Order: sequence, then structure tokens, then C-alpha cells
Amino acid sequence: MNPATAERYKKYVIGNYNRYPVCLVRGEGSRVWDDQGRCYLDFFPGWGCGLLGHCPPRVVAAVQEQVAKLIHVPNTWHTEPQGLLAEELCTRASFPAQAFFCNSGTEANEAAIKLARLYGKPQGRYKIITMHNSFHGRTFASLSATAQPKYHAGCEPLLPGFLYVPFGDLDEVAKRIDNETAAILVEPIQGEGGINLPPPGYLEGLRELCDKHKLLLIFDEVQTGMGRTGTWYAHQHWKIPPDIVTLAKALAGGVAMGGLLARPEVAEKLRPGTHAATFGGNPLSCAAALATIHTIEQENLLQRAVAIGERFRQRFEAFQSRCPLLQEVRVRGCMIGLQLSVDGAAVVRHCMERGLLINVTHQTVLRLLPALNLSDAELEEGCGLLEEVLLSLDLRA
Ligand SMILES: Cc1ncc(COP(=O)(O)O)c(C=O)c1O
Repeated sequence: MNPATAERYKKYVIGNYNRYPVCLVRGEGSRVWDDQGRCYLDFFPGWGCGLLGHCPPRVVAAVQEQVAKLIHVPNTWHTEPQGLLAEELCTRASFPAQAFFCNSGTEANEAAIKLARLYGKPQGRYKIITMHNSFHGRTFASLSATAQPKYHAGCEPLLPGFLYVPFGDLDEVAKRIDNETAAILVEPIQGEGGINLPPPGYLEGLRELCDKHKLLLIFDEVQTGMGRTGTWYAHQHWKIPPDIVTLAKALAGGVAMGGLLARPEVAEKLRPGTHAATFGGNPLSCAAALATIHTIEQENLLQRAVAIGERFRQRFEAFQSRCPLLQEVRVRGCMIGLQLSVDGAAVVRHCMERGLLINVTHQTVLRLLPALNLSDAELEEGCGLLEEVLLSLDLRA
């Protein structure tokens, strides 16, 4: 990369990220280019935000049009894009809903946690049950909800009132509920925790427990929402309606945005003065989100997500017999986890050297969140590269 860029980062940018020595300058669909003109095939565009790949044309056009009209006004006013977006999101939900907008996933979960407390307060309910290996964000309430000690280290004391139980274990949830419990917060499919699919009956069982004990069921769909898994919201696969669902990442096709949908009787607890976000629901991000939804619809990308997932599954399940390192293939639409028996960091590095961008999470799980408009040719090319890298490492192991 250009040494001047590296120098500037070293001198002026806080070093809280491990960055590759690559400077990306341009993207188009599932391809991205660095400042040396090198092209990469991206199976992890925007850390899950690039649902439509890089610079999707409808989103670019909508942003260009909106940016020249009205960028930001405070939420003391109405704007057309915010109202339209709320309608598009709520009418796609499988429960009666109203929307609140913010700017990121952690902010969406902060809002959901506050809402659960505001809702439970009259009955003295404030505790929230969350799952081991969950990931809900980095701000304090979301961090406290995230049941992974490695993210807490050094930041204690955390916000009180969170109880952690193993993902998939209904009995443990049932045991921890008491008359101070307000909500259960869960990712329908754990993302950062390793693409962990819920065991059969689990989400249904959580809904039953919530109904029985009058708790709110909150689905964190920051990673799974917006069609990523082949339905608008992942929980629709199981037909389990939540009381609150949180969204971010892909919501605005790569433009920063977060939000939540809540049942009206819950949503009404967010009265003026209880919660706000200055930039939340600004016309620019709403225009980008509307263009994202319209693209998914017009290009039939929910079906495409399912087809892409099935092709990945077939390919890697067939490959498993040739690659002892690959232990399990976990797929739901364009959310793909390849469980390895070894640390995956070297695989990611070797793939990058070969021009393929992927991610590793939870040390041993290769995570692919490809764009819903990935072409068949791109899919086969990237899978071929990844297989070659895995086989070369397998031989060395
Ligand atoms: C399920 C889930 N929730 C919340 C977050 C936090 O989102 P953000 O980084 O936008 O704050 C993430 C980020 O990876 C996530 O995967």
C-alpha cells in the first residue's frame, strides 16, 4: 500500500483494530480494488453490511439524489423517507410493529434493552437473559448483554441485570426466569459466535416461555436481517414472531444505519424524552435503506440468497471428504460457517494473498457473508480458491 497512508494511520489513527497492510479504494458488486490496482473477490463485503455488494447502483443513485436534496434534519420534524422506510420494514414483519431508527447495531440493541426495562418497570422487571457466545455490540448495555468474557475484560463493572445461559438450552432459560425477568434477547442464528443455528424447537420454546412468564422476546437480527438468510427477517423461517427485533449492518445497503421494530403496545413506552438518536432515521440513510429493499425485491434476491446458500452447502459438503480440516458446514442462505479443526487465521491470510476476502470468527469458524447478488461464476471462483487454500494447509498439517 501507499507508504504515506500507512504512516498517517500509524501517527494519527488509534490502533484499536488489527488492519491488513492493504488500502482499499474502490468496490463494485463482489469485487474490491486496492490502491495498487489489485482486485479481490469479496465473500465478506462490509463485514455483513454489503448485502448487495459494493456500491449497489440503486443505492448509489438514491444517495446521490437525496444528498443534494436534504441530508439531515432533527427528529423534531417529519421526513418522507423515514415514514416510507418504517412502512416498508413494518409491513414485511410478521407481527404488528412500529419502527425506531438509530445508526448502528449496538445502538439498536441499547434501544431494545432500554425499551425492555421501560416496559417491565411497573412490574419491577429489569433482568434480561442472553446466550453464551452471543454478540450484541460494544456500548455498555449491549456489551453487558454479550455473553463473551473476552469482550468484557477490563471494562467491568458491567451493567447489572444480565443472565447468561448456553445457546440452545431451553431448560437453563426456564431455570433462570424469576419475577424480575423482563426479556430474553437472542440472535436467531448466532453470527460472531460461529454461525450457530438454533436447535429444532428452540426459538419456539423461547416464545412459549416468554408467553408463559409475560416476558419480551427480542431477536437481534443485526446480522441475520434484511434478507441475509432468504427471508426478510431470519425468525420468519421458524414463524416465531418476536416482540422486538433489532436491525443494522445491511439495513441501508452499506450506509450506516440501525433500527428496531417493536409491537405497538411495547413501542409506546418510548415516549418523548425516554430515548433519541440525533442522526437516527436521517433522510440520507433512509433513502439508502429504501433503495436496498427495492433492489432485493426487484431482483428477487431472497430466492437468490437461498440458491447461493444451497450451492455453498453442496460444494463444501462434497469437499469435506477431501479435507479433514473441515469439520462441519453450517448454512442458512448467505450466512455460511465452515467449522475447522484448527485456527482459521492462516486460511484468511492465504485467501487474501490469492485475492479472496473471507473472515474467521470464534477462532476456528470461517465466516462467509457473500452478497445476495453474487454471480454463479463468482461463487465457483471463490469456492475454488478457498478449497485450494484449505487443501494446501491440510497437506502441511
Ligand atoms: C448480531 C449482532 N448484533 C450487534 C452487532 C453490533 O453492531 P455494530 O457493530 O453495528 O454496533 C453485531 C456486529 O457484528 C452483530 O453481529
